Amino acid sequence: MQSAPRHFLNTQDWSRAELDALLARAAAFKRNTFGDELKGRAITLVFFNPSLRTRTSFEVGAFQLGGHAVVLAPGKDAWPIEFNLGTVMDGDTEEHIAEVAGVLSRYADLIGVRAFPKFQDWSVDREDAVLRGFAKYSSVPVINMETITHPMQELAHILALQERFGTSDLRGKKYVLTWTYHPKPLNTAVANSALTIATRMGMDVTLLCPTPEYVLDARYMQWAAQNVAESGGSLAISHDPAAAYRGADVVYAKSWGAIPYFGRWEREKTIRDAHKHFIVDEAKMALTNNGVFSHCLPLRRNVKATDAVMDSPNCLAIEEAENRLHVQKAVMAALVSQ
Ligand code: CP
Repeated sequence: MQSAPRHFLNTQDWSRAELDALLARAAAFKRNTFGDELKGRAITLVFFNPSLRTRTSFEVGAFQLGGHAVVLAPGKDAWPIEFNLGTVMDGDTEEHIAEVAGVLSRYADLIGVRAFPKFQDWSVDREDAVLRGFAKYSSVPVINMETITHPMQELAHILALQERFGTSDLRGKKYVLTWTYHPKPLNTAVANSALTIATRMGMDVTLLCPTPEYVLDARYMQWAAQNVAESGGSLAISHDPAAAYRGADVVYAKSWGAIPYFGRWEREKTIRDAHKHFIVDEAKMALTNNGVFSHCLPLRRNVKATDAVMDSPNCLAIEEAENRLHVQKAVMAALVSQ
């Protein structure tokens, strides 16, 4: 009987030694672009949501390793997919994930999935049913390209920090994950991921957000607490920007919707609108330890961060985006050689 493939759904499923090896391999791919690790192989990239970086970096990365990428957008250029078991499929969906994942596994060696939450009921979204459905029914490795976490962004972010600080050991760095204003409630995925990986690397992490309602889901707070216990860093929650920024080595920004308000966003909007001053600006960055700034992108300038912050030499956002290419090549190469 064929053994179940190992997927890349979350960094938390991978040991610290394995993550370190992936980061080292990514750095090697950054030095030497091309390889044949995916020669004769294919990856199917399934996008339920838009993308600039993820799509481009996976497609280019597969090409650079001798492989081929196929991009599908279910409901647009591919059939709408049903994820529930036992459903009488007399609605809008045309085929079940059992057949979709089964068939794609016969064509491709890897499957990437991007599926954002529906933003109506977090208790439903937190089950990550689309990603879990692909993982359950696929006989090839599945890669999370952002659902309720964004593990590829995590690795790219950490590689950018390691490069900037000139060391793979980030322990002791003061790291601020700051909520920022955005006119719409956004996915918590990158915030969940930043909290997870920053604590995993042993940094002293502060989660800065407007009110206690913006604290992240208990699963990710628990992962962070577990990581702190194992890696020796620390975790604090702050609602005071000046206190959080003071002495920071790293400021990572993201906007997200408050979980208690899923499905009631008009009520959350009043809180969000009252915290536009959480923008990352020169005055706040001046409080840091000449800290670096980064963001996963896309970013609305002068809403989440000012032009001056984005154009500063301390901004790593473009470097981090480039690193998506390198870390994803490392992950794809590792998964096909299992
Ligand atoms: N950071 C990121 O995943 O970018 P895209 O949404 O453009 O893929």
